[in-house]
Amino acid sequence: KTVAIVGCPFSGGQPKPGVDHGPIHLINAGLAKQLEALGWKVEFGGHHQFEEISAENDPAIGKLKNPRLVSKVSKAVADTVGGHVQQGTLALTLGGDHSLAMGTISGTLSKYPDAAVIWVDAHADINTSETTESGNIHGMPVSFLLGLEKQEESSPFAWVAPILKPNKIVYIGLRDVDAGEKKILKENGIKAFSMHEVDKYGIGKVVDMALDHVNPDRDLPIHLSFDVDALDPSVAPSTGTPVRGGLTFREGHYICEAIYETGLLVAVDLMEPELIPPYSSDTVTPVRGLGGGSAHNSSPRPYLISP
Ligand code: ARG
Ligand code: MN
Ligand code: MN
Ligand code: MN
Repeated sequence: KTVAIVGCPFSGGQPKPGVDHGPIHLINAGLAKQLEALGWKVEFGGHHQFEEISAENDPAIGKLKNPRLVSKVSKAVADTVGGHVQQGTLALTLGGDHSLAMGTISGTLSKYPDAAVIWVDAHADINTSETTESGNIHGMPVSFLLGLEKQEESSPFAWVAPILKPNKIVYIGLRDVDAGEKKILKENGIKAFSMHEVDKYGIGKVVDMALDHVNPDRDLPIHLSFDVDALDPSVAPSTGTPVRGGLTFREGHYICEAIYETGLLVAVDLMEPELIPPYSSDTVTPVRGLGGGSAHNSSPRPYLISP
């Protein structure tokens, strides 16, 4: 049992500083030792040092903000995660914002093109460059992985192989989905268990149904992409886009336990954790201080109707 921790202190897929501290604090809080105590051999050689691209050299492309930086970082992460998965080591990526999943899932798919993706999140992160309202790429990685829009050769995202199939991803925990995203989910027949289904069936049944959908014979490798904002803000307040009405502490753990029990897990992303204030900014080295605003979220967004 070997796990490789891929620390990604990166926030370029969205505008708030904070998520670029998350992995540093998880490691400082003793994550590696806790994994060792669970019987894992842990590989961790320090956090990723990402090349910077200054804002002047990275103007928006259409609505997309920081496109070259996000692309470059995700590509590096794809290579790292792909390398671990190739070797049969569980890749545990600590984000950083969820744009990184373009890299982590590309890495997993490079070894296992038919892997099943379980995406636990308040958000669907499936906007395209057409539908995005924010221009923040952390709200878009799934659309790139599915190849929902053709990337011109000149696009920074031309490297992303659009090989994820709509029936190979399933969502759990959704409750803040943009109108354009709902349309995309519907048109592509993508299965989502929103908080409504979690309430209705209970988390045990929801995880079973999610697995039945993406992995009916329980024979495909699984990539778990877990955005901490899937959890209720009372459990995980320190994240950039909290939304009321989320998973309980136990529901979040149950999902991870049940997926682990399948024996099929090959990669895990733990995305968008910040840190609980107060903290001292000189103890951490963010990749890019995007400046402005408080690093910590204000009030949770209202509960929005599920798709
Ligand atoms: N749907 C919104 C957007 O496109 C919010 C996305 C939130 N994503 C996240 N990874 N926290 O901007
Ligand atoms: Mn913070
Ligand atoms: Mn989210
Ligand atoms: Mn997300």
